[in-house]
Amino acid sequence: MMHKEEFTMTTDTAKALFEPFRSPKLSLDNRIVMAPMTRGFSPGGVPGDDVAAYYRRRAENGVGLIVTEGTLINHPAAGASTKWPHFYGEEALNGWAGVVRAVHEAGGKIAPQLWHVGMARKAGTGTHPDAPSVGPSGLNLAGERAGEPLTEREIADLIAAYAQAAGDAKRLGFDGIELHGAHGYLIDQFFWAVTNVRTDAYGGDMLKRTRFAAEVIAACRRAVGPDFPIMLRYSQWKDGAYDAKLAATPDELARFLEPLVDAGADLFHCSTRRFWEPAFDDGADLNLAGWTKKLTGKPTVTVGSVGLDLEFTRFFKERKGAGTAGIEGLLERLARGEFDLVAVGRALLNDPEWAVKIREGRDDELRAFELEATQRLY
Ligand SMILES: Cc1cc2nc3c(=O)[nH]c(=O)nc-3n(C[C@H](O)[C@H](O)[C@H](O)COP(=O)(O)O)c2cc1C
Repeated sequence: MMHKEEFTMTTDTAKALFEPFRSPKLSLDNRIVMAPMTRGFSPGGVPGDDVAAYYRRRAENGVGLIVTEGTLINHPAAGASTKWPHFYGEEALNGWAGVVRAVHEAGGKIAPQLWHVGMARKAGTGTHPDAPSVGPSGLNLAGERAGEPLTEREIADLIAAYAQAAGDAKRLGFDGIELHGAHGYLIDQFFWAVTNVRTDAYGGDMLKRTRFAAEVIAACRRAVGPDFPIMLRYSQWKDGAYDAKLAATPDELARFLEPLVDAGADLFHCSTRRFWEPAFDDGADLNLAGWTKKLTGKPTVTVGSVGLDLEFTRFFKERKGAGTAGIEGLLERLARGEFDLVAVGRALLNDPEWAVKIREGRDDELRAFELEATQRLY
């Protein structure tokens, strides 16, 4: 087994990616984050030795922080597949303990991505097919009625389920948690006016639509104490609504983020499909992670097509792979401090050695992203 420390060569060009990262609650050997990627290799919701080995391979090969695939909180309608990992129940949590051990033995760090898909769940799927799908207003992502609005009691139970998972993550030895608040899933369904038409404290103007997330973060904070890192992943775009915007201007974004910071978020993972795109049409070059860092002062993670020439939703919708692409533009942005960390999805799914190849300038060994990569867990 190789440890990160054994790599000696770092090309000057890639240097910005391999500077250590220091923040009040989280320190990392370098700036590379493995993006959360659902794999569907956990039958019965239990991540096994193969899942542990998959993550260990990335930790051994120069990834600073692994964010796990979305893992389901304890709610009967949290997920849409029996092969997505659970983050509750003794067997699944034992499986996760094995994952943490494997990653730590290899010198890496790891945070679980806590996930509830909300109304994005197709009826009749997942571990409890009879459970109705839930969301703030019972609306699907097209804004059509597909269920009942959540009651306040049910909302309280969901918040408690996130907090339970956060506490378990800390107990199992994870290095932080990521809350999945992006891509049109449950937390994002509260954020978004199309899926949240509630008229109580959880719906209405943008501030009220942040309330669910803020309460989730605050409850997680109570469960993990003051020093454990809580990261929030959020996105403007939603599945099937790529032009959607939670915030249309930097001012709106500041108002959106403030309650989330106040509730206890330490880092923001700003999900975009192409990292080089400006977040707003105001002439500024900053991407969403750039603006989020500027507005909150918190460390941010950028993501989207790093090292690849086609964005990832094309893979899902059109079954397209992607060729390799240079990362010079990314390095420039990182070096000038636009954001702090860089999440890499498909390139790392494809190739566990991606980070070390970048570090050592072995560009000729970088591989195109093939569809078959998603069928195997290596
Ligand atoms: C197979 C696959 C599964 C994914 N699953 C998740 C997930 O569980 N949670 C999440 O927030 N994003 C998920 N994503 C999005 C990635 O985290 C990432 O944001 C996206 O792939 C863009 O990064 P890339 O261009 O480097 O691949 C997934 C992406 C892929 C390709």
